[in-house]
Amino acid sequence: MNILLLGAGGREHAIAWKLQQSKGDNTLFIAPGNAGTAQCGTNVPLDLNNFDAIASFCVETKIEMLVVGPEEPLVKGLYDFFQSKPAVKDIYFIGPSKEGAQLEGSKAFSKAFMERHNIPTAKYREFDTSNFDEGTKYVNEHPLPVVIKADGLAAGKAVLICHSHIEAVAEFELMLQQQKFGEASRKVVVEEFLDGIELSVFVLTDGKNYVVLPEAKDYKRIGEGDKGLNTGGMGAVSPVPFATPDFMKKVEDRVIKPTIDGLRKENIDYRGFIFIGLIKVNDEPLVIEYNSRMGDPETEVVIPRLKNDLVELFTAAARQELDKVTIDIDERAAATVMAVSGGYPGSYEKGFEVLGLDLPMPANSIFFHAGTGFKDGIVVTTGGRVLCVTSFGDSVFAAAQESRRAFKRLDYDGMYYRRDIGFEFEENVEM
Ligand code: AMP
Ligand code: GLY
Repeated sequence: MNILLLGAGGREHAIAWKLQQSKGDNTLFIAPGNAGTAQCGTNVPLDLNNFDAIASFCVETKIEMLVVGPEEPLVKGLYDFFQSKPAVKDIYFIGPSKEGAQLEGSKAFSKAFMERHNIPTAKYREFDTSNFDEGTKYVNEHPLPVVIKADGLAAGKAVLICHSHIEAVAEFELMLQQQKFGEASRKVVVEEFLDGIELSVFVLTDGKNYVVLPEAKDYKRIGEGDKGLNTGGMGAVSPVPFATPDFMKKVEDRVIKPTIDGLRKENIDYRGFIFIGLIKVNDEPLVIEYNSRMGDPETEVVIPRLKNDLVELFTAAARQELDKVTIDIDERAAATVMAVSGGYPGSYEKGFEVLGLDLPMPANSIFFHAGTGFKDGIVVTTGGRVLCVTSFGDSVFAAAQESRRAFKRLDYDGMYYRRDIGFEFEENVEM
């Protein structure tokens, strides 16, 4: 089968690495890809916003399966575009319709969806300029901290946890009246702050059936001890020791089943991943967000633990046959540690040679590229998050130790990675 995977990060390298291991005669293309995906297939320089170019490439190359890594083309309606073109409409498409992707693309849509289907989440109200005064009063009277979120996509920056009413009202005004996040903040969700521990749950659905993939926890802050600025993600572990079987059963019954039933009842076309961001509060799961894609760097631990053939799994999702699939998980723990460019998440330089990639790999570790590319035939840094090392171990802490060891062989100018991924699970050696 000819397969096209869209995206260019560590998530896409992990998916490409797994697709390449599928049995059967497959040819893999990745657009635009990175220096790591180039080892798994052929990189193609497509612009992910140019839907015509993507469709033309699919026709010319006889693509039979399209897998969409990032959310943006989905939220902009790539699936619907493909459905409207007879030449590409029968391609197996892994990624939801524009309406389904609203679960990520609009916080107001996802909150209303959760409310309709009784899915536990933080209490909220939604405001725009038409009820701005009422909103200001609501924010002013809301218990602290109060969470203010722009409705639309704004690269993860549009969630503010405010500890004073002055700050909250100012942010509320900036978003709605000054369009701080442009189109994304034409609508704003104001919600209660949830105090608990976070984890991410991943589901692959065909719109009727679903399979649950291993859960993960990511580390968002740049600094050790979870300090400093937010990033795209500095590391991840799976399994999550506090996600006990009892807790995961609650997640399945109260969150996953009602979510899939809701999609089905509302006739929302959804064949793809749902990433559910949860907070565990007093042993109860509450949803903070849905994403219409896999997480990054969570994919780099979730996919290596998946033993199923990924092409078979995607084929079952596209054919709405996920009820016939049983998920097979590697019992070992996995941890990934992300190396970033010096200065990230602020400004940073690119174009530094990545050294050590040709050295033999430790048996329990895998390198995934994130922001890398080729310059004159050598691998250079091209982004904030550069590459990560995923390792297996008896515990997530032991796995993270392996990754840290593996990093000793790699270098580039300004390389930084957190040495404490998995730190809170150090005692937890029995998994
Ligand atoms: P979101 O873009 O909705 O995932 O929010 C980004 C991050 O903000 C989450 O991963 C949480 O760490 C935090 N967050 C969002 N909503 C809440 C909430 N209601 N209570 C506490 N933290 C939150
Ligand atoms: N690591 C969080 C995300 O992918 O959104």
